[in-house]
Amino acid sequence: MNDPIFSRPYPRSLSLGKASVDIRPMTATNAGAFGLFIQNMPEHDLLFVRRDIRHPKVIAAWMDALEHKRFVSLAAWEDGEMVGCGAIVTDPLSWSPQVGELRVLIAPHWRGRGLGRALIQECFAIALGFGLEKLTVQMTVDQVAAIALFEELGFSAEAVLRNHVKDREGNVHDMALLSHDVAEVQARMQTYGIQQALER
Ligand SMILES: CC(C)(COP(=O)(O)OP(=O)(O)OC[C@H]1O[C@@H](n2cnc3c(N)ncnc32)[C@H](O)[C@@H]1OP(=O)(O)O)[C@@H](O)C(=O)NCCC(=O)NCCS
Repeated sequence: MNDPIFSRPYPRSLSLGKASVDIRPMTATNAGAFGLFIQNMPEHDLLFVRRDIRHPKVIAAWMDALEHKRFVSLAAWEDGEMVGCGAIVTDPLSWSPQVGELRVLIAPHWRGRGLGRALIQECFAIALGFGLEKLTVQMTVDQVAAIALFEELGFSAEAVLRNHVKDREGNVHDMALLSHDVAEVQARMQTYGIQQALER
């Protein structure tokens, strides 16, 4: 994987309504802030990640992966508090080296203010820089806000895996896999003005 993240200027400051956030690549030094961010997350929202990211071992593994550039994650900060993050997960040694999985998570008090869309757009830019050919995103089918947002950005449902996710109470949920090929993503980026945003 190349290191195109540095071809984009970070930190970037985004004005969203009356507030503003700084977007910066997440680093291993952000483990404490990431732990606090996750602690305040509704239980159900954490279903979208495959592992229990509240567990210290999982946080440590994530930070180690960041340190060794096995994936890239961006964090949004307001006054020193992490209020959102996005990530692109790839596996160059797998049978799908051309595929990147996007993940995004926004603090509840920051939702509905455009931060999710902005972080996804930033992640698009990085994924395109990696030369990825296909992007996927996974969530439980009841994550209505997330599905609406990704569909608006050109993703479409590719599969539903029945009873694929089990929550802590043992309830199972269907999982949706949405995808988009990069050529179409690029066209959408132009349609939605993301290209101009990236050139700022
Ligand atoms: C999905 C998520 C990332 C959206 O973040 P956000 O910052 O609230 O999103 P935005 O404010 O940028 O909203 C963008 C669009 O999302 C959709 N949306 C947001 N909240 C919504 C809601 N409650 N119901 C329906 N659609 C909603 C709308 O289409 C909205 O467009 P609009 O602003 O023109 O109305 C956030 O809700 C979240 O962290 N959810 C839990 C984790 C998750 O499901 N991640 C996705 C899978 S990786």
